[in-house]
Amino acid sequence: MNNKIIANDNPMITTMDVSAVTITKKDKMGTSGTRLKAPEFNRPGFHPRMNQAICDHWHGLSVEQQGNKVVIVGGDPRNGNPKRIQEAALIAAANGFKPIVPKDNGLAPTPAISAAIMTYKAMGGIIETASHNPAEDVGIKTNLSYSRGAGPALEEVTEDIFVKLQDVKDTKILNMTYSEAVEKGLIQEVDMVKVYVDFMKKIFDTEIIKQGFKGKPFQLLLDPMHGASGPYAKALCAEFGIKLDMINAEPLPFFGPENEHRHPEPEPRYLEELIGKSSAYNLSGGYDGDGDRNLHYEGKRNITAGDLAALMAEHYGILPIKEQIFKGGQVVMGRSIVSTSQPDLAIERLQREGQDIKMVATPTGFKFIAELGNFGFEESNGHGNPWHGEKDGMFATMFQLYLMAKTQKTLDQLLQEIYKKDGRAYFTRGGITCPKDATTQRIMGIINNPPKEIAGFKVLDARIFNYKSPVTGLETKNAAYMFKLESPTGDILTLSMRFSGTGTGDPLLRTYVDCVKKGEDQISARLDKALDYVRPVANEIVGKVVEFPELDFYAKEG
Ligand code: G1P
Ligand code: ZN
Repeated sequence: MNNKIIANDNPMITTMDVSAVTITKKDKMGTSGTRLKAPEFNRPGFHPRMNQAICDHWHGLSVEQQGNKVVIVGGDPRNGNPKRIQEAALIAAANGFKPIVPKDNGLAPTPAISAAIMTYKAMGGIIETASHNPAEDVGIKTNLSYSRGAGPALEEVTEDIFVKLQDVKDTKILNMTYSEAVEKGLIQEVDMVKVYVDFMKKIFDTEIIKQGFKGKPFQLLLDPMHGASGPYAKALCAEFGIKLDMINAEPLPFFGPENEHRHPEPEPRYLEELIGKSSAYNLSGGYDGDGDRNLHYEGKRNITAGDLAALMAEHYGILPIKEQIFKGGQVVMGRSIVSTSQPDLAIERLQREGQDIKMVATPTGFKFIAELGNFGFEESNGHGNPWHGEKDGMFATMFQLYLMAKTQKTLDQLLQEIYKKDGRAYFTRGGITCPKDATTQRIMGIINNPPKEIAGFKVLDARIFNYKSPVTGLETKNAAYMFKLESPTGDILTLSMRFSGTGTGDPLLRTYVDCVKKGEDQISARLDKALDYVRPVANEIVGKVVEFPELDFYAKEG
């Protein structure tokens, strides 16, 4: 790469020739940004070229959409990110934008970047993260502007960025060090921890939490998995007067000791330390590398993604949000189609009781939920809120604390009330690596010509899930393959399948099962049973043995 000063132009700007970088489909932003193995991501020129493509996308926006031209640039502590964050800020500044970067190496969880976009009314954000991916991966994503809710970039944006990425020849970058750019005021550094805590204080009434736990020996345990959330969660709890213990709090480049690369994903198999200690705590929670996912336990009891979503559906009214989100008067919650129907049961009941509330099922990818502008969740343990358009692990913790403080009940008590009214949905997901084209063909063969039965299960419905956004009208085709089945014992199950869009290895077919059981006979519908039932069907559809290694992720019930 040759850097050259642009003649007759601004001497503070240099261009880097990045035309030699070969761009392939793998470089396109997928379910949530671009994620690659580190050597691929680090190939010379790729990172500047990607950032230039993001800037070129921004250049194409209208003056109104560009607004104040402020962009928030930050990321998780993943190996090499502090440098990437500086480079991204230098490129954004050279392109005429006004980067705001968290002090302390640019470290910020994804939801804090979104909160900052809202706070500064910014035109967007660049987030250097591969989220929950293993320490060997590197990634980048971009978020929308204040005026568009600060959530993850929509497909129209990622499409455009990919078009631009293929066109980029030169990347503009400031012709100075990062520190010099900060000194000259071309890049602004801020205390992002404070920005985030102040943002949360507008949502959660400090006094309600303080009073709610007054005189109680309430103890919280958090595990940020050495990701971006540690300093943020610590400050948040201090502000709200929550007694906090933490493990794996320090942000680290490999999410653990240098010789022990870890997987910063809040699943039971990676949260053993937290789970081992959880019985001594009223609430414990783990977050992924960039702090947008969560997994919580009340004592030993796992609060599943669907449980927490059902609590949000049932108790959304405890937060002062009415005017802010329910613009049309209606409460709209979003969930990915492949997730559990537990909150749907609550919402259907609330509808019967006359509340103006509905659930929208979306494709996988939080961007689809975020654009609905409300509460929502994904099967992979990400919960969003109406304030900043991103899923947010710390918001999930705060919501649960707030709910307990307000109602003076435990989460389990509140959930038992819900199950009693609605029954219970049992859910898990599994996966299998298989060739994409051949497997898709096989599944499509079954959908186009569904048999009456598969492995003894009645096939009630077999279809493709196509989605049309109620906000933008944009269509997303082939978002999932859906099978509605009746088991030999009369249980109704939804089996859904889709290929993962975040993996960096062989194609991974994700397989999800949701089984609703009403009434008293809940033991027989425990998830492991539902899975044992449905496994032969999944195997037959795919033509290979589907494994459900992530059973525990969702199945730990109290
Ligand atoms: C995975 C999750 C999905 C989530 C995404 C980004 O995507 O399954 O729910 O939106 O990570 O966090 P997938 O690999 O399934 O495409
Ligand atoms: Zn994440």
